[in-house]
Amino acid sequence: MSEPITVVVTGAAGQIAYSLLYMISRGEVFGKQQRINLHLLDIPPMMGVLEGVVMELGDCALPLLNKVVPTSDPAVAFKDAAAAFMVGAMPRKEGMERKDLLSANVKIFKVQGEALDKFARKDVKVLVVGNPANTNAIICSHYAPSIPKENFTAMTRLDQNRAKYQIASKLGLPVDAVKNVIIWGNHSSTQYPDAKHAVVTVNGASKSAWDAIGDAAYLQGDFISTVQKRGAAVISARKMSSAMSAAKAACDHMHDWWNGTPAGEFVSMGVVSDGSYGMPKDIVFSFPVEIRDKKWSIVQGLSIDDFSKGKLDITAKELLEEKDEAMAVCNQD
Ligand code: NAI
Repeated sequence: MSEPITVVVTGAAGQIAYSLLYMISRGEVFGKQQRINLHLLDIPPMMGVLEGVVMELGDCALPLLNKVVPTSDPAVAFKDAAAAFMVGAMPRKEGMERKDLLSANVKIFKVQGEALDKFARKDVKVLVVGNPANTNAIICSHYAPSIPKENFTAMTRLDQNRAKYQIASKLGLPVDAVKNVIIWGNHSSTQYPDAKHAVVTVNGASKSAWDAIGDAAYLQGDFISTVQKRGAAVISARKMSSAMSAAKAACDHMHDWWNGTPAGEFVSMGVVSDGSYGMPKDIVFSFPVEIRDKKWSIVQGLSIDDFSKGKLDITAKELLEEKDEAMAVCNQD
């Protein structure tokens, strides 16, 4: 067993955290030999609920759990953090405009960015889940200037997993027979799920998913809209937003960042753009990445046809607008 590391989960009394905390504490992200100090951040009115979650974590009798610290103080939560799952955000309320939601949530990420800057390890790995995830990640990074920008990422892994599942079920294959589906851009309805570079394994042989499905109209139509609208479909059926699948995706994202991606395989993460594929710099854009030694790099040289370029431009435009709105909100204070 190695020395414990501090892992922060914000929004710890919420529904995603309820699944996520168990998965992290079971060793599914950092390994079965890594003990964990779990720092749980939520807002003061949720401290009672959080106490119940802490009781349950204790009652799970998890050997890797060294210490659990529930708190509403970001200074306590982010102290010595090696990894942070930023799930906490205000949910959209009835009658609330998208702009109001953005404004409320980016302020949270400004405050938490400042706390990360002061109290976390300089190599902390930050995964933003709370929406608008990409824009919250750029704000969080902006207010934590002593931590490298590469350490701030946003979650599009749920979208990737959804896309993977759609392809697998279309072909009647297990999900692990599908790899290299890409989510480009924003974690919003403008995201571009791209199957052009996806590979499937059928009877032991690898082939292009595009050729295996053999239906361009589907792959450029229903496939994309199903993935884009999957979150809304879950809400409509469950009357609550995706939580178990979001928690699993957060674990997948951090697991791969911590442990690396297998050779020949890439995953999608919202990362700070360096201008790859002609996208604007300094927004958090979801790209295909490979990970070695806990560092991601954007996969280069994938062919982008006119259809894909059009989709990339739409989602980039939305991210630029969101960033401008978010910076304006933060500069008001
Ligand atoms: P939830 O409403 O059940 O839980 C959110 C928790 O965050 C609540 O306990 C709330 O008190 C807490 N919170 C609010 N402000 C906070 C602050 N300043 N500091 C710490 N905690 C704070 O919501 P749920 O279902 O757990 O979702 C959380 C977020 O994740 C939402 O923004 C949701 O839109 C987003 N999400 C993102 C996905 C992605 O793929 N990137 C997928 C699914 C959800």
